[in-house]
Formats: sequence, C-alpha cells, structure tokens
Amino acid sequence: MTQNLLKIENVKKTYRKYNLIGKEISKFSALNGLNLNVGKGQIYGFLGPNGAGKTTTIKCIIGILEADSGNIIIDGKNIKGNGLYFKNKIGFLPEQVGLYGRLTAKESLQFYGGFYNLSDNLIEKRGKALLAKLGLEKDSNRRVSEYSLGMKKRLALCIALLNEPEILVMDEPTSGLDPRGVKALRIVLKDLNKKGLTIILSSHVLTEVQEICSHVGIINNGKLIREESIDGIRKEIEKKSIRLLLKVKDFSEKISKELAKNKKIKSIKQKNNGKHEEITLELKEENIPWITDFLVSKGIQIFSIEPQKNSLEEIFLKETGGD
Ligand SMILES: Nc1ncnc2c1ncn2[C@@H]1O[C@H](COP(=O)(O)OP(=O)(O)OP(=O)(O)O)[C@@H](O)[C@H]1O
Ligand SMILES: [Mg+2]
Repeated sequence: MTQNLLKIENVKKTYRKYNLIGKEISKFSALNGLNLNVGKGQIYGFLGPNGAGKTTTIKCIIGILEADSGNIIIDGKNIKGNGLYFKNKIGFLPEQVGLYGRLTAKESLQFYGGFYNLSDNLIEKRGKALLAKLGLEKDSNRRVSEYSLGMKKRLALCIALLNEPEILVMDEPTSGLDPRGVKALRIVLKDLNKKGLTIILSSHVLTEVQEICSHVGIINNGKLIREESIDGIRKEIEKKSIRLLLKVKDFSEKISKELAKNKKIKSIKQKNNGKHEEITLELKEENIPWITDFLVSKGIQIFSIEPQKNSLEEIFLKETGGD
C-alpha cells in the first residue's frame, strides 16, 4: 500500500472580517470539514469549481493560513507548531507568482535560496540545472520584468524546487500558459515525479488533471466529495454510457428503428441540419467500433463522430452538482 504523506482531517476554515473597533462584520466558511489523503509519490489533482476552497486548502497546507480546527499531518507529523520543519520539505508555486522585476533569474534564485540557508555555490549549481531543465538558461541574465507570464511561472517553479523539497504544491500551475507551455510543464512534472517528488496541484481544468495526475480529489463547498485514482475513474467511465454525435448521410427510418431495438443502443435522437442527418446515440464506449462497422455495412456515409462530453467532466459535474 502507498505510504500516506499528507493527511487532512476534518479541517475547517472561516474567513472573518472585522471593523475598526474589532467587531465581526462578516464571515464565510471556506473549508467545512475537509478530509483528504495524498500518498507518497502521487501526483494528486485537487479539482473543484471556482470558490470550492482549493486555494484556501493549499494555503493551509503550506502554512500561509492556519486552519481553525482539524489536523494537517505531513509524514506523520502535525504541521501545527512545526512550521520551520516543513518549510524545508515543501516547495510552493502560488497561483500569482510574485517575483522582483528588477532581479535577473539568477539573482532571484540567489535571493530566495538565501531563505533556505543554502550556500551561494549550491544555489548556483542547483539553479543552473533547474534553469536548464525549465528552458530558461539563455534568459537567466535578463531581468524578470522582461519575462512573459509563462517564463515567470517557470522561474517560480525553479525557486520552488531549489531546496529539493519532498512535496511540491502548486496552485493552478497551468493558468496563463499556452498549450506548448502546458505540455512542457507536464513533461517536467512527470520527470520530477519519477524521481520521487510527490506533487499536489489544484486545477479546474479537467483534462489537465486527467492527463497529468495519478489521483484526484474532487472538492466543492469546502468538502471532499470524492477521492479516487485516475485509473479508478477511467474504469468507471468505461462502464458508463457516453453520448456520440454522428453526422451522416443516407440514414433511413428503417435503420433508425433497427438501432432503437438493439440492446447496445440506450437511446437515439435524430435531426436534420440541412446538410447532414445528426444522430445522437447513447452507448458504451466499447461499442463505438461496432456502431461504425454497422453503419458502414448499411452503406451510410459518416462525416464525423464526436463524443458529446469529456467523461471526467461528466463525473465532475455530477459530483459537484453542476448542470
Ligand atoms: N480573504 C478572503 N476573505 C473572505 N472570503 C474569502 C477569502 N478568500 C477566499 N474566500 C472565499 O472562500 C471560498 C473559497 O475560496 P478559494 O480561493 O479557496 O477557492 P478556489 O477553489 O481556490 O477557487 P478558484 O478556482 O476560483 O481559484 C470562496 O467562496 C471565496 O469567496
Ligand atoms: Mg484558487
């Protein structure tokens, strides 16, 4: 069994606002008894709609915020009162990276490396390797103010990794990155994970979680709704029916009736868009080859086949109560 690295037990966090004389004027419960478990070596994706509590949870894990109640246990040790110990274990990439524009990448690494009591030599050696890994080598003497958002994120990731943490926590790491940047980040993260780094990231991009993570925790309204391995979710998806939209020609009433009677087809809808017949079928994914063979054997021309929804998206929307 995978060893537990991070355990969140019944964590509650309420944001409170006070007026000038200290009277509470508003409060909002962002975490309402959150539980979750991250195993050593996992890439754990924290999935939830806007306002679900992802950033709040991350801030509690890395110690920017203190939970009102409950426990956050890392490697068997409660983080309460052990801030310094954990500072050396966790690397953090915030959603909005705050860097000093006047410093170059190399100077930034020296500056932040100083907080970890790393020697200048060690910072230089590790920094050089990290900058190369993240494709910033040739820009390492440029000022950060000249960097694009994607470059800033990559530099912030170098800084987060400088201390060789055991856990890397990232809040929406791909926000603002172009598809190439996302792909490059994915490769770097998978590589780091292979070398033993446990990674926790938050996202509301489902495909990203599906692509990169080994495990997923779906949260909504500050509570865990579901925690599962991506493989587990995949197996569930395979069992479920999906909707398939086909654009075809020469689709007769007779074929429609024949399909409606077939047990492999759960439902069938049909409409003419002027150019093609649009057929929406509900069936199991494993029956897609069968349906295409069937239609071709009847002499039907198929112009396109599109699954109607990303399956993880469907699970996500079902679990978070969305439409
Ligand atoms: N400083 C704050 N004061 C008051 N309420 C806050 C504060 N920060 C967050 N909240 C509220 O707490 C809830 C959770 O916010 P949080 O930022 O953790 O969500 P999130 O899951 O990270 O959302 P997003 O996907 O938009 O980043 C939201 O309803 C938000 O309005
Ligand atoms: Mg957030």
